[in-house]
Amino acid sequence: MSNMMPHEKGIDHTLSLLREGYLYILNRRRSFSSDVFETRLLGKKAICMGGKEAAEIFYDPEKFQRKGAAPNRLVQTLFGKKGVQTLDGQKHKNRKEMFMSLMTPHELKRLTDIAKKEWKLAAQKWEQMDQIIFYEEVQEWLCRTACQWAGVQVRDDEIKHLTNDLEAMFESPAAMGPDHWKGRNARNRVEKWIGEIITRVRSGEVQPAEHTILHRFSWHRNPDGSLLDHETVAVEVINILRPIVAIAIFMNFTVLALHHHPEEREKLESGDEKDYRMFVQEVRRYYPFFPFVAARVKKDFIWMNYTFEKGTLTLLDLYGTNHDPKIWDNPDIFNPQRFAEWEESPFSFIPQGGGDYLLGHRCAGEWATIEIMKVSLDYLVNQIEYQIPDQDLSYSMVSIPSIPRSKIVMKNIKRK
Ligand code: HEM
Repeated sequence: MSNMMPHEKGIDHTLSLLREGYLYILNRRRSFSSDVFETRLLGKKAICMGGKEAAEIFYDPEKFQRKGAAPNRLVQTLFGKKGVQTLDGQKHKNRKEMFMSLMTPHELKRLTDIAKKEWKLAAQKWEQMDQIIFYEEVQEWLCRTACQWAGVQVRDDEIKHLTNDLEAMFESPAAMGPDHWKGRNARNRVEKWIGEIITRVRSGEVQPAEHTILHRFSWHRNPDGSLLDHETVAVEVINILRPIVAIAIFMNFTVLALHHHPEEREKLESGDEKDYRMFVQEVRRYYPFFPFVAARVKKDFIWMNYTFEKGTLTLLDLYGTNHDPKIWDNPDIFNPQRFAEWEESPFSFIPQGGGDYLLGHRCAGEWATIEIMKVSLDYLVNQIEYQIPDQDLSYSMVSIPSIPRSKIVMKNIKRK
């Protein structure tokens, strides 16, 4: 006999989730004194959980599946139809291999070389300007970097539009009304544009170099030997471009962390790679970005004496696990040194998902994100000088994704 899971009373709690944002699950884990609880979301029973042990079962492919887990509003904006996020089993593994084959040291170096070159050009441009809005500038810089890495050619006068469309895709999933539709329209536009490029690659009219993402994805084979349809290839190319632009959110928080912790900034001046890494990890742990991930129970099972019923929507709290006092000392203090002695576990530090890259849904771009953040940290600390004038640097724990309100205005940028 299993016990009854702690549960939130009431007909539906979707509004509480939207009102409490990043803290919704953590608040209830505290008040129920339980890492797992039942609630009702989108009119149906749902389970929420967080912590290392919860992450371990969430990433067990025998217990959870992604099929039918993502709400339509997410598929229409953030994910795209038939993308890797929605697949399970062999189909997922085949598609994920396509992504992970890009994440070799050689390809990551090619990415950071492009990023460094683009940083230099951006810094030259910013030097000529009185001030910049860092969030916007950095997105454009990331978009240029992503397109070059992927082998997608974009004209200079198209970059701004493309950046705005990719931004709308990751800013709109939780939005209501026109902001949400902005994301849907942006996705339709970019999918159509990339879809046409893929048709031209397949007809031989466009011939990207063999190592590029555009080439590899266009010619990737399904387990049955067939090519992906060109809409799906477009969705997966966007699954590279969009999240690279989204690294702008972490970079905004990097600037904020440097601003609020001058003593940590000083430690980075020696340019030691280990210090860069610890700082980047702490930015990814500490600041809110991706709140939770969703899956459905694959078949009935019992965990911690509670029954998980087949088909139940289950959310794993990423933010709350990264702030879990059972895992982290003083989780609400920004302290990069905690990573000096940290014992790596794929289930306790999960800003970009947990578990295994190939067998599970852990973020394909985690290493790329860390490398780009390290390059950027080096620029911010050791390659340029800038001032942060008075402005509203506060950020919300409710809006998803959270972005500092001023989007970070920087003045008097100079190369050192
Ligand atoms: C900007 C920082 C990023 C954050 C916060 C982030 C976060 C995440 C999260 C939470 C997941 C889902 C994990 C799960 O479902 O269990 C994910 C999946 C994914 N991410 Fe990222 N990501 C980032 C950057 C990137 C980058 C740079 C790329 C590509 C270069 C990328 C590509 C992907 C892909 C393809 C998936 C789907 C993996 C799968 O379903 O198997 N992400 N990411």
